Amino acid sequence: MRYSYRISGWVTLNSRNKTMKTSFIVAALGSALLILLASCSAKKQESSTMEKISFGRTTEGTEVNLYTLHNKNGMEARITNYGGIVVSLLVPDRDGKLADVVLGFDSLASYVKNSPYFGALVGRYGNRIGKGTFELNGTKFKLAINNGANHLHGGLKGFDKVVWSVDEQQSKPGKLLVLTYLSKDGEEGYPGNLSAKVVYSVTDSNELKIEYTATTDKPTVVNLTHHSYFNLAGAGNGNVLDHELFIDAERFTPVDSGLIPTGELKSVKGTPMDFTAATAIGARINDAYDQLKNGGGYDHNWVLNKAANSFGLAARVYEKTSGRVMEVLTTEPGVQFYSGNFLDGTLTGKGGKQYGHRFGFCLETQHFPDSPNKPQFPPTTLNPGQTLTSTTVYRFSAK
Ligand code: BGC
Repeated sequence: MRYSYRISGWVTLNSRNKTMKTSFIVAALGSALLILLASCSAKKQESSTMEKISFGRTTEGTEVNLYTLHNKNGMEARITNYGGIVVSLLVPDRDGKLADVVLGFDSLASYVKNSPYFGALVGRYGNRIGKGTFELNGTKFKLAINNGANHLHGGLKGFDKVVWSVDEQQSKPGKLLVLTYLSKDGEEGYPGNLSAKVVYSVTDSNELKIEYTATTDKPTVVNLTHHSYFNLAGAGNGNVLDHELFIDAERFTPVDSGLIPTGELKSVKGTPMDFTAATAIGARINDAYDQLKNGGGYDHNWVLNKAANSFGLAARVYEKTSGRVMEVLTTEPGVQFYSGNFLDGTLTGKGGKQYGHRFGFCLETQHFPDSPNKPQFPPTTLNPGQTLTSTTVYRFSAK
């Protein structure tokens, strides 16, 4: 019995096995198909489901959104396609506690009304062009004048005040935001239709990464940068004078009283501009030094030591109460260190916090100001057929 049972059992089992095998194969194929369908629809959903909320309408009535990028450590950036502005940036301190380290506003209306470029993408030309004029291939161009006698940050309506398109196909929800903008021939006085693309991403190494590309259909000048005002103790928590700053630069570009470079590359040695050893921002900011008087504090371009076009360290900032460290890495040859000198307490920022004098600092990676009029500076001309590429990383850690 036992034997026959075994035999029959085996036979039964065997035939059951076949049935099981068949049904297993059917089930497996079925589930594979389901998984495939599910993953296809998930992918489809992924590419169309950006983490976004409405951020209101511009004065022209265009709706803009606020997009969220984050990483596995809880770091989070919220970015609007109005001006490509980083509205908030949460990064951990030495105990893992998150704080928002960039200045900004709660509403789109405040950005539109009176933002001093908080968190914005700056273009077509970051910083100043003297008297708003330059000559290219024998033709003289006249740009919008919006800063004394000069042109600043792209003019009256620079890239910080336009609505960028979001390429949802190339963006990765929660990870990567692709913004594009077509700056028309003649906009703010610049020649050529310029197609600009900026990719923002938040990496698992606690970096906010910004990748710029641009092409043109006529020779033009371009200098793209990012204008976040940082306070590593948290936006609105006092001034940044105790932040310790290192800039990897032996030289800077001195300016005249209108903040236009004189054309000289001057050694920082023996001056308050020397940040080759980490020094508190406030340690020498009120020294009787003509360059500090011209800038009302620090508002200058440093000539980075790293090889031209190489990607490397520009600056490092340390804030001792939180332990937060920010490193700035870039492919650009220069960095504008601006110590928030024009902040005077009249702006009310996120959460009703008042932004007083020097409550934030900027480290704007760039080609040098007024390069179109300074042939001795690295060139900022972009010709048809060329593609401008530039990468900057703001990397956060704590100690
Ligand atoms: C400029 C400052 C200017 C600030 C905000 C900086 O990049 O160098 O002079 O005040 O941006 O507009």
